[in-house]
Amino acid sequence: MTHIENMTRVPALAGRYDFYGAVHKGLRRAQCNMLAAVGTADFADAQQTDALLDEFRRLLGLAAAHVVHEDATVHIALRSLSLPTDLIDEQHDDHRAAFLAFDALADRVENAEGPARLEAGRALYLAFAAYVADDFAHMHEEETVVMPLLWQHFTDAELLDMEMRIIGSMSPEENMAFTRIMVPAMAPAERRAMVGGMFRSMPRPVFDAVIGFAIRPVLAPAEFAALSNDIGLAA
Ligand SMILES: [Fe+2]
Repeated sequence: MTHIENMTRVPALAGRYDFYGAVHKGLRRAQCNMLAAVGTADFADAQQTDALLDEFRRLLGLAAAHVVHEDATVHIALRSLSLPTDLIDEQHDDHRAAFLAFDALADRVENAEGPARLEAGRALYLAFAAYVADDFAHMHEEETVVMPLLWQHFTDAELLDMEMRIIGSMSPEENMAFTRIMVPAMAPAERRAMVGGMFRSMPRPVFDAVIGFAIRPVLAPAEFAALSNDIGLAA
């Protein structure tokens, strides 16, 4: 099979639970935005770019947490059925090595001055672009090869249970951070399903906090109004 055939062969969702959908959309959008921000940054301006590097490290922290979550649920579940995880394990190991390398590259930018700082910024941009390309290929593998295996061997209720275990393993701050990247990346119907589910299941003060910290600030006013209307939340 050619590479392009691999890329365009996307198994239909056909009503099954979209296990990776929201979080991978969020990571793709956040990484694209970060890549553009690093590309347009003026690394001669230390103040502006130090703030960007903080944001860069926070995003890598989420990406690293995501890898741990998948290892602890999906990979263990697949191995329990003697299904192969070699490729995705190897890709996760590569990601872990990349996170360490990026920390060193970001340090290099922070500690450099003048032309060396611009050079370090350029290296960070190119390295991150290559990582994003790798990660996009990896997420594609998960959504087109691993997900059909999950659908074959697990019910939607079992997949939802895996996701709930991931959510339960995170601190409120981590959950908020993932919500902040996922919500603006989702299609309106997906957003309605996820946020509507939260509205029905969470105590109201907790839900209000999620809206205030992780949903309203990351949507355009018209998108937030449409979502509020869709889920029956008074504006
Ligand atoms: Fe993964």
